[in-house]
Amino acid sequence: MKLFRKIGKFTEPLSYRRGWRRAQRSIFRLPLRPLLAKIDQERAREIQRRYANCTAGYAKYANIEPWLRLNRERVQDLNLHRSTPKRVLDLGCGGGFFLFILKNFDHSVLGLDVERVVLFTELLELFGVPRVVWRISAFEPLPELDQKFDWITAFSVNFNLYHPEKRRWGTAEWDFFLQDLQRHLVPGGKIFFGLNPNYEGDYYTPELRELFISRGADVERERIFFRKGPRF
Ligand SMILES: C[S@@+](CC[C@H](N)C(=O)[O-])C[C@H]1O[C@@H](n2cnc3c(N)ncnc32)[C@H](O)[C@@H]1O
Repeated sequence: MKLFRKIGKFTEPLSYRRGWRRAQRSIFRLPLRPLLAKIDQERAREIQRRYANCTAGYAKYANIEPWLRLNRERVQDLNLHRSTPKRVLDLGCGGGFFLFILKNFDHSVLGLDVERVVLFTELLELFGVPRVVWRISAFEPLPELDQKFDWITAFSVNFNLYHPEKRRWGTAEWDFFLQDLQRHLVPGGKIFFGLNPNYEGDYYTPELRELFISRGADVERERIFFRKGPRF
């Protein structure tokens, strides 16, 4: 019975797509060893030791390997390990794990984040990933970045929260943001967002989902993908 339910689920389009991605990842798994070999292991261990007893939520990123594994999947899912060199901007780049892997596939990378967490700055240095320090705010354009990008990405997005009330951006904020991002994309450039769920487990309101779709995105649960940039 359980098997039938599993097979039945796999034939649903969403489960099918997720299952297919998982299968591809495990068949053609990117090896971690060559990536680890590019990292100064002594410095990595020193960082890990220093944060071992730190109770802050971000301290988990000091243990590099699991995050490289997760980001290896992100790179594979976007097929960026098989692509010709691209210019990639990652918003809310954190410690730069995703961009570090991309750099090793000859992509040219730039992160953007606030400068609140010292560990992220240390990891970015360890990985040799450049970052622009900037706070993304509703209805405010990004800074001039002196280049256009083939890809703009953002994973586990939380720049869309108003502080301190943690209210999320609505459609007007996102529409402004998409229009601004388009300024930083080459024609036909791509945007990918991996959204975070709210406390009820939803990723967006029905109105926001509609907005993403009307601007040309494929929406697959938390994955919002503009294959040819947003449409206005
Ligand atoms: C949950 S972490 C995800 C980090 C990374 N993208 C990943 O998936 O590993 C969210 C990141 O967004 C950054 N961030 C939060 N609010 C931001 C804002 N308003 N502008 C820029 N970055 C922001 C945080 O500093 C943090 O690095």
